[in-house]
Amino acid sequence: MENTAAKACTGKSIEPSNIVIFGAGGDLTKRKLIPALVKMLRCGLLHPESKVIGVLKGRTMEVWLDALHQGMLDFAPDIKMDEAQWQEFSAMFKMVDGDLQDDKTYADLADSLETLDGHINAMFYCAIPPRWYTTVAAGLHKLGLADEDEGYRRVVIEKPFGMDLDSAQQLNQALQKLLDESQIYRIDHYLGKESVQNLLVYRFSNSILEPLWNRNFIDHIQISAAESIGIEYRANYYEKSGALRDMIQSHLMQVMTLVAMEPPVEFSADAVRDEKIKVLRAVREFEPGVMDKQTVAAQYGSGSKGDEKINAYVSEEGVSPDSVTETFAGVRFYIDNWRWQGVPFILWTGKRLPERVSEIVIHFKKPPFNLFDTHANPPLANSMIFRLHPDEGIALRMNAKMPGLTTNTQRMVMRAPYSENGEDVSDAYEVLLHDVLNGDATLFSRADEVETSWAIIEPVLNAWKDRISVQRYRAGTLDIPGMDALFEGCEGYWHKPS
Ligand code: BG6
Repeated sequence: MENTAAKACTGKSIEPSNIVIFGAGGDLTKRKLIPALVKMLRCGLLHPESKVIGVLKGRTMEVWLDALHQGMLDFAPDIKMDEAQWQEFSAMFKMVDGDLQDDKTYADLADSLETLDGHINAMFYCAIPPRWYTTVAAGLHKLGLADEDEGYRRVVIEKPFGMDLDSAQQLNQALQKLLDESQIYRIDHYLGKESVQNLLVYRFSNSILEPLWNRNFIDHIQISAAESIGIEYRANYYEKSGALRDMIQSHLMQVMTLVAMEPPVEFSADAVRDEKIKVLRAVREFEPGVMDKQTVAAQYGSGSKGDEKINAYVSEEGVSPDSVTETFAGVRFYIDNWRWQGVPFILWTGKRLPERVSEIVIHFKKPPFNLFDTHANPPLANSMIFRLHPDEGIALRMNAKMPGLTTNTQRMVMRAPYSENGEDVSDAYEVLLHDVLNGDATLFSRADEVETSWAIIEPVLNAWKDRISVQRYRAGTLDIPGMDALFEGCEGYWHKPS
C-alpha cells in the first residue's frame, strides 16, 4: 500500500526559550527529555539559542552532565552523538542547585533565565514526584516567575495527576490558584505518539470512514496496551497505583475519547478538547452490580519468557507478599450517545504479558448472511487495527477467496505501515515538548477531562479497594481469568495481539 507519511523532522519553527527541568537528575530527564531535546535540536525544532536549565540538588554540573551523557548512550543509542557533538549540545545547559521548598532556589532560577531574542520565555517541566507539583507552582508564583509580562511561562505537569477524583480536584484547584489554566500542560505521553495523532488525521481526513464509524456498523472496540516488562523497581508507586490508574485512567481512556469523539469545529486545543470531554460525559456510570461483568483485575504470578524465569509480582522488590494490586486491568465501557449506544469499548492493559503491543481494534459487524458454501470456515467480521506500538501503522482484515475451484474464504490483511519509507517516527516526548514550546495544548489534558475520567472510574476503584484477593495469571502469558467474560455478547472474540 502506498504510504506518504510525513517526515518526522517537520514542525513549526520556534522562538528560543529557557527550558527549565525540575527533577533534572531523575530518570525521566535522562531517558526521555534529553534525548528528545537532542533530536529536536538536530531537526531544527529547538532553537539553538535556547537554554536547558536543570534544577536539582547536591550534584556538581560536571557529575550531572556526565549522567546525562551516559543516559544518552544507554537509552538513546540510535541518536549516535560523538564527544564533540555532545560538548556542543551541553553548552546549552545551566544548573540550579537547590531544594524545591527553598525560596532561594527560585531566586537563583530567576537569575538564570535568559533574555533570548527580546523575550524571557520559559517552559517549566515538572519531572518530579507529584507531591511537589504544587510546591513548584507556588515557588514560581511567589517570585513572579509565572508572570507572562516578559515572555510566555508554561508549566508541564507529569502523570499521575491525582490518585482519585478528590486528589485530582484538589491538585487542579491548587494549581489554578497559582497559574492560569492556559499555562498548565498536563502531559499524557500516549497522546504524543505519532500513531495516536494519526488516528485523528485518519478519521477526519478520509470521508469513507465516517459513514461506518458508528453503532450501525461497529460491533465493539478494543483499546489495549500489553507490556512485557514488569514494574521496574517502581513498587512504591505501583503498589498504590495498579494497572487501572497507571494505564487505563491516564492513557487508554484518553485514546478512547479520540476514537469516539465527534469531528471538532476546528483543529485547535479547545475545540478538540470540547469534543473529548463530551465523550467522557457520555460514559455510562458503573453500577455496583456490573463490576463482575465489566471489569477484570489480575496479578502476575511467576512464569517465564523463553529461558528467562520471571518472578511473581509479590516477589518483586518493595512489593508486599500479600499485595492484591492488579498488574492487569480490563474494563468494558459504554458511551451513551447517538453514535455509540450499545457498542462496548473494551480497554485492557497488563504487565509481564508475552509482548509489548498497543493497539486499537475496531471490530465491525459480521456479514448479515453467508452467501458462500463455507460453513466450516465462514467469512469473519472485518476489523481495522491501529497499531500504536511496535510497527506503527494500520491494518484492515478482510475476507477473500481462497485460490482454487471452491468459494472458500480466507483472511486477507491489508497493511499500511506508518513509516514504510524509512522515516523516523518521532518519540512522543519530542512531539509534546515541541507543542509546549509552540503553545499548542491540543494533546494535553484539560482540568475538566482529568476530573471527569477520574469520576468515571471512581466506582471501580471503590469496588476494588477492599478486595482481599486477586486472580492470578502466569507471567509471560495472556491466560487472564475473566477476560473472555468481558467480551460476552460481542460478535467475535478477545483479539489477542500477535
Ligand atoms: C507509563 C506507565 O505512563 O506508561 C508505565 O506509568 C508504562 O507503567 C508506560 O510502562 C508505558 O508507556 P509506553 O509508551 O511504553 O507504552
